Amino acid sequence: MSSIVCLETLKAMKAYHNQLPTGQKVALVPTMGSLHDGHLALVKEAKRRAQVVIVSIFVNPLQFGPHEDYEKYPRDLKSDIQKLEPLEPLTVFAPLVTEMYPRGPSRTVLTMPSMTNVMCGLGRPGHFDGVATVVCKLFNIIRPDLALFGKKDAQQLAIIRQLTRDLNFPVEIVGVPTVREPSGLAMSSRNQYLTPNQKEQAAFLYRALLTGKTLFEGGERHAEKLMREVARILQEHHIEPEYISLVDYDTLAPVNTLVASPVILALAAPIGRARLIDNVVLEP
Ligand code: PAF
Repeated sequence: MSSIVCLETLKAMKAYHNQLPTGQKVALVPTMGSLHDGHLALVKEAKRRAQVVIVSIFVNPLQFGPHEDYEKYPRDLKSDIQKLEPLEPLTVFAPLVTEMYPRGPSRTVLTMPSMTNVMCGLGRPGHFDGVATVVCKLFNIIRPDLALFGKKDAQQLAIIRQLTRDLNFPVEIVGVPTVREPSGLAMSSRNQYLTPNQKEQAAFLYRALLTGKTLFEGGERHAEKLMREVARILQEHHIEPEYISLVDYDTLAPVNTLVASPVILALAAPIGRARLIDNVVLEP
Protein backbone atom coordinates (compact mmCIF):
# COMPACT_ATOMS: atom_id res chain seq x y z
CA MET A 1 0.00 0.00 0.00
CA SER A 2 1.26 3.49 -0.91
CA SER A 3 2.39 5.61 2.00
CA ILE A 4 2.22 8.77 -0.09
CA VAL A 5 0.01 11.28 1.65
CA CYS A 6 -1.87 13.44 -0.86
CA LEU A 7 -3.20 16.73 0.48
CA GLU A 8 -5.51 18.87 -1.61
CA THR A 9 -6.46 21.81 0.58
CA LEU A 10 -4.64 24.59 2.40
CA LYS A 11 -6.45 23.53 5.57
CA ALA A 12 -5.13 19.96 5.26
CA MET A 13 -1.62 21.29 4.58
CA LYS A 14 -1.77 23.46 7.69
CA ALA A 15 -2.97 20.55 9.85
CA TYR A 16 -0.26 18.30 8.39
CA HIS A 17 2.44 20.89 9.10
CA ASN A 18 1.21 21.43 12.65
CA GLN A 19 1.56 17.75 13.54
CA LEU A 20 5.16 17.42 12.24
CA PRO A 21 7.64 16.72 15.05
CA THR A 22 9.67 19.84 15.86
CA GLY A 23 13.18 19.95 14.48
CA GLN A 24 12.36 17.97 11.31
CA LYS A 25 13.57 19.67 8.15
CA VAL A 26 10.92 20.17 5.50
CA ALA A 27 11.93 20.23 1.83
CA LEU A 28 9.62 21.42 -0.92
CA VAL A 29 9.89 20.28 -4.55
CA PRO A 30 7.52 22.54 -6.52
CA THR A 31 6.32 20.97 -9.80
CA MET A 32 3.53 21.23 -12.32
CA GLY A 33 3.25 17.43 -12.48
CA SER A 34 3.86 15.33 -15.59
CA LEU A 35 6.85 14.09 -13.65
CA HIS A 36 9.99 12.78 -15.33
CA ASP A 37 13.46 11.72 -14.17
CA GLY A 38 14.46 15.38 -13.76
CA HIS A 39 11.76 15.83 -11.11
CA LEU A 40 12.68 12.52 -9.47
CA ALA A 41 16.29 13.76 -9.17
CA LEU A 42 14.95 16.80 -7.29
CA VAL A 43 12.97 14.55 -4.95
CA LYS A 44 15.98 12.27 -4.33
CA GLU A 45 18.15 15.28 -3.49
CA ALA A 46 15.39 16.60 -1.21
CA LYS A 47 15.32 13.26 0.62
CA ARG A 48 19.09 13.44 1.14
CA ARG A 49 18.71 16.87 2.73
CA ALA A 50 15.47 16.71 4.76
CA GLN A 51 13.35 14.36 6.85
CA VAL A 52 10.06 15.54 5.36
CA VAL A 53 9.67 15.96 1.59
CA ILE A 54 6.63 17.65 0.07
CA VAL A 55 6.13 17.58 -3.71
CA SER A 56 3.66 20.19 -4.91
CA ILE A 57 1.82 19.41 -8.13
CA PHE A 58 -0.02 22.42 -9.44
CA VAL A 59 -0.38 23.68 -13.01
CA ASN A 60 -0.32 27.37 -12.25
CA PRO A 61 -2.59 29.34 -14.61
CA LEU A 62 -0.91 32.60 -13.64
CA GLN A 63 2.31 31.67 -15.47
CA PHE A 64 0.74 30.80 -18.84
CA GLY A 65 0.14 33.40 -21.55
CA PRO A 66 -3.23 33.59 -23.33
CA HIS A 67 -1.92 31.62 -26.35
CA GLU A 68 0.14 29.08 -24.41
CA ASP A 69 -0.58 25.45 -23.57
CA TYR A 70 -2.33 25.87 -20.17
CA GLU A 71 -5.43 23.88 -21.20
CA LYS A 72 -3.38 21.20 -22.97
CA TYR A 73 -0.57 20.96 -20.40
CA PRO A 74 -0.32 17.23 -19.55
CA ARG A 75 -2.04 16.42 -16.24
CA ASP A 76 -2.19 12.94 -14.69
CA LEU A 77 -2.05 12.97 -10.90
CA LYS A 78 -2.50 9.21 -10.59
CA SER A 79 0.48 8.47 -12.81
CA ASP A 80 2.57 11.16 -11.05
CA ILE A 81 1.87 9.54 -7.69
CA GLN A 82 2.85 6.14 -9.13
CA LYS A 83 6.16 7.60 -10.30
CA LEU A 84 6.79 8.93 -6.79
CA GLU A 85 5.94 5.65 -5.06
CA PRO A 86 9.51 4.20 -5.20
CA LEU A 87 10.63 7.28 -3.26
CA GLU A 88 8.06 7.12 -0.47
CA PRO A 89 7.47 8.17 2.27
CA LEU A 90 6.51 11.47 0.68
CA THR A 91 3.76 14.01 0.86
CA VAL A 92 2.10 15.42 -2.23
CA PHE A 93 0.33 18.76 -2.18
CA ALA A 94 -2.03 18.89 -5.18
CA PRO A 95 -4.50 21.74 -4.75
CA LEU A 96 -7.21 22.72 -7.24
CA VAL A 97 -7.00 26.12 -8.92
CA THR A 98 -9.98 27.24 -6.80
CA GLU A 99 -8.01 26.37 -3.68
CA MET A 100 -4.96 28.41 -4.73
CA TYR A 101 -6.91 31.29 -6.30
CA PRO A 102 -10.30 31.16 -4.52
CA ARG A 103 -11.36 34.64 -5.61
CA GLY A 104 -10.19 34.34 -9.21
CA PRO A 105 -6.82 35.44 -10.55
CA SER A 106 -4.47 36.86 -7.93
CA ARG A 107 -4.62 40.66 -7.76
CA THR A 108 -1.20 40.69 -6.16
CA VAL A 109 1.51 39.79 -8.63
CA LEU A 110 5.22 39.94 -7.90
CA THR A 111 7.20 41.78 -10.57
CA MET A 112 10.97 41.88 -10.89
CA PRO A 113 11.38 43.60 -14.27
CA SER A 114 15.16 43.51 -14.56
CA MET A 115 15.15 39.73 -14.24
CA THR A 116 11.81 38.81 -15.77
CA ASN A 117 11.88 40.96 -18.92
CA VAL A 118 14.94 39.26 -20.40
CA MET A 119 15.61 35.88 -22.04
CA CYS A 120 12.44 33.72 -21.83
CA GLY A 121 10.56 36.65 -20.33
CA LEU A 122 10.74 38.55 -23.65
CA GLY A 123 8.77 35.88 -25.49
CA ARG A 124 6.58 35.02 -22.51
CA PRO A 125 5.48 38.32 -20.96
CA GLY A 126 4.13 37.85 -17.44
CA HIS A 127 5.36 34.25 -17.19
CA PHE A 128 7.95 34.82 -14.47
CA ASP A 129 5.65 37.16 -12.54
CA GLY A 130 3.27 34.20 -12.37
CA VAL A 131 6.06 31.82 -11.33
CA ALA A 132 7.38 34.22 -8.67
CA THR A 133 3.88 34.80 -7.28
CA VAL A 134 2.96 31.11 -7.01
CA VAL A 135 6.33 30.25 -5.47
CA CYS A 136 5.75 32.90 -2.77
CA LYS A 137 2.28 31.43 -2.16
CA LEU A 138 3.75 27.90 -1.90
CA PHE A 139 6.44 29.11 0.53
CA ASN A 140 3.75 30.70 2.73
CA ILE A 141 1.42 27.70 2.57
CA ILE A 142 4.04 24.95 3.02
CA ARG A 143 6.64 26.84 5.09
CA PRO A 144 9.59 24.70 3.91
CA ASP A 145 13.14 24.97 5.23
CA LEU A 146 14.50 24.37 1.75
CA ALA A 147 13.13 24.25 -1.78
CA LEU A 148 14.69 22.53 -4.77
CA PHE A 149 14.56 23.65 -8.41
CA GLY A 150 16.14 22.30 -11.58
CA LYS A 151 19.12 24.14 -13.07
CA LYS A 152 17.59 23.64 -16.53
CA ASP A 153 15.30 26.57 -15.70
CA ALA A 154 18.27 28.83 -15.00
CA GLN A 155 16.29 32.07 -15.25
CA GLN A 156 13.58 30.73 -12.94
CA LEU A 157 16.21 29.61 -10.44
CA ALA A 158 17.96 33.02 -10.44
CA ILE A 159 14.61 34.80 -9.98
CA ILE A 160 13.61 32.55 -7.09
CA ARG A 161 16.99 32.97 -5.37
CA GLN A 162 16.59 36.74 -5.71
CA LEU A 163 12.99 36.93 -4.43
CA THR A 164 13.90 34.69 -1.50
CA ARG A 165 16.68 37.12 -0.54
CA ASP A 166 14.63 40.26 -1.26
CA LEU A 167 11.56 39.15 0.70
CA ASN A 168 13.51 37.42 3.51
CA PHE A 169 11.92 34.01 3.10
CA PRO A 170 13.68 31.70 5.57
CA VAL A 171 14.09 29.11 2.81
CA GLU A 172 17.32 27.68 1.43
CA ILE A 173 17.15 27.47 -2.37
CA VAL A 174 18.91 24.45 -3.85
CA GLY A 175 19.65 24.14 -7.59
CA VAL A 176 19.85 20.56 -8.88
CA PRO A 177 21.77 19.64 -12.06
CA THR A 178 19.81 19.05 -15.27
CA VAL A 179 18.97 15.43 -16.04
CA ARG A 180 19.51 14.57 -19.71
CA GLU A 181 18.51 11.88 -22.16
CA PRO A 182 21.49 9.83 -23.47
CA SER A 183 21.45 12.19 -26.53
CA GLY A 184 22.05 15.17 -24.24
CA LEU A 185 18.50 16.51 -24.59
CA ALA A 186 17.43 18.05 -21.28
CA MET A 187 14.45 16.27 -19.72
CA SER A 188 11.28 18.32 -19.89
CA SER A 189 7.57 17.61 -19.60
CA ARG A 190 7.23 19.25 -23.02
CA ASN A 191 9.52 16.64 -24.67
CA GLN A 192 6.42 14.47 -24.97
CA TYR A 193 5.21 16.85 -27.69
CA LEU A 194 8.20 15.81 -29.88
CA THR A 195 8.29 13.16 -32.64
CA PRO A 196 11.38 10.85 -32.69
CA ASN A 197 12.93 12.99 -35.47
CA GLN A 198 12.28 16.20 -33.57
CA LYS A 199 13.89 14.64 -30.49
CA GLU A 200 17.05 13.98 -32.53
CA GLN A 201 17.01 17.55 -33.77
CA ALA A 202 16.43 18.88 -30.25
CA ALA A 203 19.61 17.15 -29.03
CA PHE A 204 21.58 19.78 -31.00
CA LEU A 205 20.46 22.46 -28.54
CA TYR A 206 22.78 21.02 -25.91
CA ARG A 207 25.49 20.20 -28.43
CA ALA A 208 25.49 23.81 -29.60
CA LEU A 209 25.81 25.01 -25.99
CA LEU A 210 28.64 22.55 -25.38
CA THR A 211 30.50 23.93 -28.40
CA GLY A 212 30.17 27.38 -26.83
CA LYS A 213 31.52 25.96 -23.58
CA THR A 214 34.47 24.33 -25.34
CA LEU A 215 35.35 27.61 -27.07
CA PHE A 216 35.16 29.36 -23.70
CA GLU A 217 37.41 26.72 -22.13
CA GLY A 218 39.84 27.28 -25.00
CA GLY A 219 40.13 30.94 -23.95
CA GLU A 220 37.40 32.79 -25.90
CA ARG A 221 36.01 35.59 -23.71
CA HIS A 222 33.89 37.60 -26.17
CA ALA A 223 30.20 36.91 -25.62
CA GLU A 224 29.34 37.87 -29.19
CA LYS A 225 31.75 35.29 -30.66
CA LEU A 226 30.53 32.51 -28.36
CA MET A 227 26.89 33.22 -29.18
CA ARG A 228 27.63 33.43 -32.91
CA GLU A 229 29.15 29.94 -32.83
CA VAL A 230 26.12 28.55 -30.96
CA ALA A 231 23.83 30.20 -33.54
CA ARG A 232 25.89 28.71 -36.40
CA ILE A 233 25.45 25.17 -35.08
CA LEU A 234 21.73 25.63 -34.54
CA GLN A 235 21.37 26.98 -38.06
CA GLU A 236 23.27 23.97 -39.43
CA HIS A 237 20.55 21.80 -37.89
CA HIS A 238 17.67 24.00 -39.07
CA ILE A 239 16.88 25.31 -35.59
CA GLU A 240 15.80 28.94 -35.31
CA PRO A 241 16.41 30.03 -31.74
CA GLU A 242 14.04 32.43 -30.01
CA TYR A 243 17.13 33.79 -28.24
CA ILE A 244 20.70 32.94 -27.33
CA SER A 245 21.90 34.89 -24.28
CA LEU A 246 25.00 35.23 -22.16
CA VAL A 247 24.01 36.69 -18.81
CA ASP A 248 25.35 37.12 -15.32
CA TYR A 249 24.58 34.06 -13.17
CA ASP A 250 22.96 36.06 -10.34
CA THR A 251 21.49 39.18 -11.91
CA LEU A 252 20.76 37.92 -15.45
CA ALA A 253 22.26 41.17 -16.80
CA PRO A 254 23.75 40.72 -20.31
CA VAL A 255 27.50 40.17 -20.35
CA ASN A 256 29.78 41.36 -23.18
CA THR A 257 33.11 40.07 -21.96
CA LEU A 258 33.49 37.14 -19.62
CA VAL A 259 35.75 38.32 -16.83
CA ALA A 260 35.44 36.92 -13.33
CA SER A 261 31.90 35.98 -12.33
CA PRO A 262 30.04 32.92 -13.61
CA VAL A 263 27.69 33.43 -16.54
CA ILE A 264 24.83 31.48 -18.05
CA LEU A 265 24.89 30.65 -21.75
CA ALA A 266 21.21 29.99 -22.41
CA LEU A 267 18.86 29.50 -25.31
CA ALA A 268 15.25 28.81 -26.19
CA ALA A 269 14.03 27.36 -29.47
CA PRO A 270 10.80 25.99 -30.89
CA ILE A 271 11.05 22.41 -32.10
CA GLY A 272 7.80 21.06 -33.51
CA ARG A 273 5.03 21.89 -31.02
CA ALA A 274 7.46 22.31 -28.14
CA ARG A 275 9.32 25.37 -26.97
CA LEU A 276 12.52 24.07 -25.40
CA ILE A 277 15.13 25.76 -23.22
CA ASP A 278 18.60 24.76 -22.09
CA ASN A 279 21.76 26.32 -20.69
CA VAL A 280 25.32 25.74 -19.53
CA VAL A 281 27.17 27.69 -16.86
CA LEU A 282 30.60 29.14 -17.76
CA GLU A 283 32.88 29.88 -14.85
CA PRO A 284 35.90 32.07 -15.68
O1 PAF B 1 9.24 24.82 -12.86
C1 PAF B 1 8.02 24.62 -12.69
O2 PAF B 1 7.53 23.49 -12.85
C2 PAF B 1 7.10 25.78 -12.29
O3 PAF B 1 7.50 26.95 -12.91
C3 PAF B 1 7.01 25.95 -10.77
C4 PAF B 1 8.33 26.34 -10.15
C5 PAF B 1 6.49 24.67 -10.14
C6 PAF B 1 6.00 27.07 -10.45
O4 PAF B 1 4.74 26.80 -10.94
